[in-house]
Amino acid sequence: MIMSSSWVTAAAVMVFGVTMGTATVQAASPEPIQPIKAAKVGDPALVELGKKLYFEPRLSKSGFISCNSCHNLSMGGTDNLKTSIGHNWQKGPINAPTVLNSSMNLAQFWDGRAKDLQAQAGGPIANPGEMAFTHQLAVEVLTSIPAYQAEFKKVFKKDTLDIEQVTKAIAAFEETLVTPNSRFDKWLKGDKKAITADELAGYQLFKNSGCVACHNGPAVGGNSFQKMGVVAPYKASSPAEGRMAVTGKDADRFNFKVPTLRNVELTYPYFHDGEAATLTQAVDIMGRLQLGKQFTADENAKIVAFLKTLTGEQPKFALPILPPSTDATPRPRPFE
Ligand code: HEC
Ligand code: HEC
Repeated sequence: MIMSSSWVTAAAVMVFGVTMGTATVQAASPEPIQPIKAAKVGDPALVELGKKLYFEPRLSKSGFISCNSCHNLSMGGTDNLKTSIGHNWQKGPINAPTVLNSSMNLAQFWDGRAKDLQAQAGGPIANPGEMAFTHQLAVEVLTSIPAYQAEFKKVFKKDTLDIEQVTKAIAAFEETLVTPNSRFDKWLKGDKKAITADELAGYQLFKNSGCVACHNGPAVGGNSFQKMGVVAPYKASSPAEGRMAVTGKDADRFNFKVPTLRNVELTYPYFHDGEAATLTQAVDIMGRLQLGKQFTADENAKIVAFLKTLTGEQPKFALPILPPSTDATPRPRPFE
């Protein structure tokens, strides 16, 4: 997309270059990062249902874990833990990425094994290490609650409730979890006072050092799989092999989906194994392992300052009130 728009601009420059002066110079080198657009809500009733399901702990065996347990929307859509805690206090294998702006990802999960948000949403419910439920039981729980039955019927216009409807609604809610109007977006749109001189210097370092080769586009990432440890190897504390688990190709070993850097100030700790506790550490490791560059403390601080300008407006909504269980609702089993 970036390529094609700059080609269009380049063509325009050839035609109009003589008369347009500096304006064409600016247009011919568009920024590698674009502003996030606000979410468009196509079907408010579907989104509203998805919001309830996102906060619904009765989709877990324990009746205690919801999507929001690990992707806490009060904390940047993450749990701020190295790796997540699942059913029965199980230690998860990998860091939970943010759900904020996840609709912009080329695929879901660190290795991209789910093609989109709907394909992703069924996973955790039935994952024994996460919500430890089954799709059948999830549907049984929801069907036993008349208020849910009525709401599903209103939204999907079908007599029976199924897991496809559940995942579709959750995905529709997640699509609204975008974070526009960060200070950096305001700067991109022309408000040159929106970021400080140090933050701008950090952006120049981010661009000129080559971070933008992998972290670009509106999400500042999320649009490619790349090797972790290009110049020097990364010693991960997690056994995850990355994209190879999906493609089976040795060339994809240790390739991970490049994480979005939107709201990265909120989504600590960093990397798929959660081993970088701070942004300072993450930037230092990225510089050395991806680019063979050792940043000075001052350069690192400037890049970190720039990264913090990527924090956007967090989703705002009233906490959904969930309809009560009935006598027929299967009971939670938290300690099994
Ligand atoms: C027990 C913690 C836990 C729960 C509960 C949980 N998740 Fe996750 N989620 C994770 C972890 C860990 C990953 C990363 C897994 C991987 O990449 O292999 C993840 C990945 C994701 C991703 C992919 C994001 C990306 O950038 O690739 C999305 C979207 C997501 N979860 C949404 C949900 C939804 C929706 C629910 C509820 C149905 C949910 N999660 C429940 C821990 C959890
Ligand atoms: C060759 C591609 C590539 C380049 C260049 C690159 N990154 Fe990354 N970046 C990645 C990948 C892949 C990950 C995820 C690695 C992992 O978790 O194992 C990542 C992760 C990160 C994270 C952690 C995000 C999170 O949520 O866990 C930060 C911060 C980051 N990069 C910043 C930078 C900075 C700053 C630069 C430039 C100094 C840079 N990156 C250069 C590919 C790249």
